[in-house]
Amino acid sequence: MTEQTLVLIKPDGVSRGLTGEILARIERKGLTFQALELKNVSAELAAEHYAEHAERPFFGSLIEFITSGPVVAAVLEGPRAIAAFRQLAGGTDPVEKAVPGTIRGDFGLETQFNLVHGSDSPESAKREIALWFPEFPV
Ligand code: TYD
Ligand code: MG
Repeated sequence: MTEQTLVLIKPDGVSRGLTGEILARIERKGLTFQALELKNVSAELAAEHYAEHAERPFFGSLIEFITSGPVVAAVLEGPRAIAAFRQLAGGTDPVEKAVPGTIRGDFGLETQFNLVHGSDSPESAKREIALWFPEFPV
C-alpha cells in the first residue's frame, strides 16, 4: 500500500545544520523523495498548515516559530509512508515521548522545537501536499 506524506524540516532543524542528517535517515529507511524544496513560510501558509491547532494556547508561538526561517518541505513516498515517517520522527515531546534513535529523541529538547513535521493521516497528507506543493501531481 504505497502512500505519500508531507514532511517538513522546521526552522530549528535547518538552522542547526541537521538537514543532511534528517534527509539521510529518511533515505536509509527506504522512503523516496517525490518533491524536495527549501521554502520561506508566510504567516498565511503556516496558519493554514496548522489550522487544526488554531484554538490552542501555543498557536501564536507555533506560527511565529515556523515562519522564523526557511524550512525544507518534502513529499515522501513508500509503503505506509505516513506511519513510517512518524516512527522516524518520534513523539511530539522530544523528551517525554520521543525515544533515542528517533529524530526528535536524538536532537530535541523542547516540544515547540521538535525539528520535523509529518502528516498524521491520509486525509492530512492529501491536504498538506496540496498546500505546500500546489503544482504537485495527484
Ligand atoms: P501536534 O500536531 O500535536 O504534534 P505533531 O507535530 O507530533 O503532529 O502539534 C503540532 C506542533 O505544535 C508540534 O509539533 C509542536 C507544537 N506544540 C507545542 O508547541 N506545544 C504543545 O503543547 C503541542 C501539543 C504542540
Ligand atoms: Mg500533528
